[in-house]
Amino acid sequence: MMDYTTLTTEWLERIESKLDSVLPPADTPPARLHAAMRYSVLGGGKRIRPVLIYATGSALGVSAGTLDGPAAAIELMHAFSLIHDDLPAMDDDQLRRGKATTHVEFDEATAILAADALQPLAFRILATDSAMECQPEARLQMINLLSEACGSKGMTGGQSIDLGAEGRKLDQQELENMYRLKTGRLLHASILFAAYCAHANGDILNTLDRFADNLGLAFQIRDDILDIDGETQTIGKQQGADLERGKATWPALFGMEAAKQKSNELLDDALTQIAGFGPAAEPLRQVARFIVQREL
Ligand code: IPE
Ligand code: IPE
Ligand code: MG
Ligand code: MG
Ligand code: MG
Repeated sequence: MMDYTTLTTEWLERIESKLDSVLPPADTPPARLHAAMRYSVLGGGKRIRPVLIYATGSALGVSAGTLDGPAAAIELMHAFSLIHDDLPAMDDDQLRRGKATTHVEFDEATAILAADALQPLAFRILATDSAMECQPEARLQMINLLSEACGSKGMTGGQSIDLGAEGRKLDQQELENMYRLKTGRLLHASILFAAYCAHANGDILNTLDRFADNLGLAFQIRDDILDIDGETQTIGKQQGADLERGKATWPALFGMEAAKQKSNELLDDALTQIAGFGPAAEPLRQVARFIVQREL
C-alpha cells in the first residue's frame, strides 16, 4: 500500500493552513472558546474527508483552491461531531488524536460550546469563501447536502441510533443503517462536494454516490476493527473502548473475519464503480484502499 502521508502531503498542508485561517485566533475573545475550537480542530487527525474531496476533485479536474473551503467545512463539521461523540453523556472517552479529549482538556461546557460554534462556521465558509470558483448553485447544493448529512437523518440520527444500540444486538440491516448515518453520510458529502464543484452531470453523480456509500460503510467497519486490533498509540484513541461500552459493531456482532471480509467487498465494489474514471482517479483509488487497509 502506498504511504498515506506521501500521497497526501500537499493536501494535508492545504487543509491545515485553511483551517488555521478560518478559525478565530485564540487570543480574541471569547478566548477560552476559541482556544477550545482550535485545540479540537488543528494539528491532528487523518483529514480523510478533506483528502477525499481533493482526490475526487483531482479526478474531475477541479482546482485545489476551489476545494479548500468545502474541505475545511467538512472537517469542521467532523470535529464538531467528535467533540460531542467523546462527551461523558455519549462515548465518555478521554483520548482523541493522541491528546486529551476537548472536555477533559477544557471542561464539558466549553467543549459543548466549541462544537456548537464549529457547526455554523462550516456553513458560513460554504456560503462566503471567496476562493471557491463555482456557480452559486453549487454552493447551495453543498449547504443543502451538508445540512442533510449532519441532521437527524444523517450523522446526528446515526449517533442517536448508536447510543440506543449499546448492549443490544442489531441485525445486519440495522447495523448498516447506523453506519451509513453516523459516518457514511459525511464521507459521502465530501465526495459529492467535489462533484458539485466540478458541476458534474447525472452519470458521474450517480457513480460517485454509490462509490461513496460503499466507502462510508467500509470506513466505519475499519474503525470498529481498529478498536479491537489497533494500538492505542497508533489510533490515538483508547483501544477496546467499544467492547467496554458494549457498542454494536460489525466485529462484535458478526466476528472479526466477517468484518474484514465485508470491508474488502465494499472496497472492491467501490473500485469497480469508478473503474471508468481513468488514470486521473488513481489518487482516489489509493485513498479508497487506505480506508480499508489503514492502521490509524
Ligand atoms: C473517527 O473519524 C470517527 C468516525 C466517524 C469513525 P476519523 O477516523 O476520521 O478521525 P480523525 O479525524 O482521523 O481523528
Ligand atoms: C463516531 O463513531 C461517529 C461520529 C463521530 C459521528 P465512533 O464513536 O466509533 O468514533 P470514534 O471511534 O470515537 O472515533
Ligand atoms: Mg460513538
Ligand atoms: Mg466514539
Ligand atoms: Mg470507533
